[in-house]
Amino acid sequence: MSFEIAKIIVVCLIVFLGFTAFTGAPYVPSMKKELRQAFKKLYPLKKKDFLVDLGSGDGVVLKIASEFGASGLGVELNPLLALISKIRLRKHPNLSIKNGNLFKLDFPKETTVVYIFGDSRDILDIVIHVQNQANKLGKKLFLISNAFMIPGYEPVNQHRSYFLYEIKPVIS
Ligand SMILES: C[S@@+](CC[C@H](N)C(=O)[O-])C[C@H]1O[C@@H](n2cnc3c(N)ncnc32)[C@H](O)[C@@H]1O
Repeated sequence: MSFEIAKIIVVCLIVFLGFTAFTGAPYVPSMKKELRQAFKKLYPLKKKDFLVDLGSGDGVVLKIASEFGASGLGVELNPLLALISKIRLRKHPNLSIKNGNLFKLDFPKETTVVYIFGDSRDILDIVIHVQNQANKLGKKLFLISNAFMIPGYEPVNQHRSYFLYEIKPVIS
């Protein structure tokens, strides 16, 4: 392999994996087997559910959610990951991906559950966004957090590295 090609590959990898390193959680996909367990034991996902994945990576969370009959929307900042997940989910009309910033996403009114696999830096900002959306929609949203507990919030359920929270609307 020539030096030039190696340089291009390294730059592509940096763009692919490091795109959000300075803006939010880096790309690390959730594990399929653990997701299936979480959607059975932590929050039994049903056909009536609509899941919003904040920072949807390669779309694996939505793909597994669809095995349970649920619908969903993912928002992903990295354009390459957004494209890959759109291709991956193209045969699922009940799933969609938006390329953009999760903090600018208005949740669809049918949203019942939100999934995050963020990092400790921005988890509280994400929860504030989910709280604002629950207030706007005027209904309770379930929030599944992979790997991180939310400081100041008590989980209503826990399974392995997954924590379940209820975000109730606050009427001001
Ligand atoms: C740890 S990965 C999780 C991916 C997927 N949710 C999963 O569990 O497999 C976090 C993802 O969030 C994306 N991300 C980080 N900050 C974001 C932001 N402000 N808006 C949208 N996506 C963001 C990253 O690009 C990355 O793909």
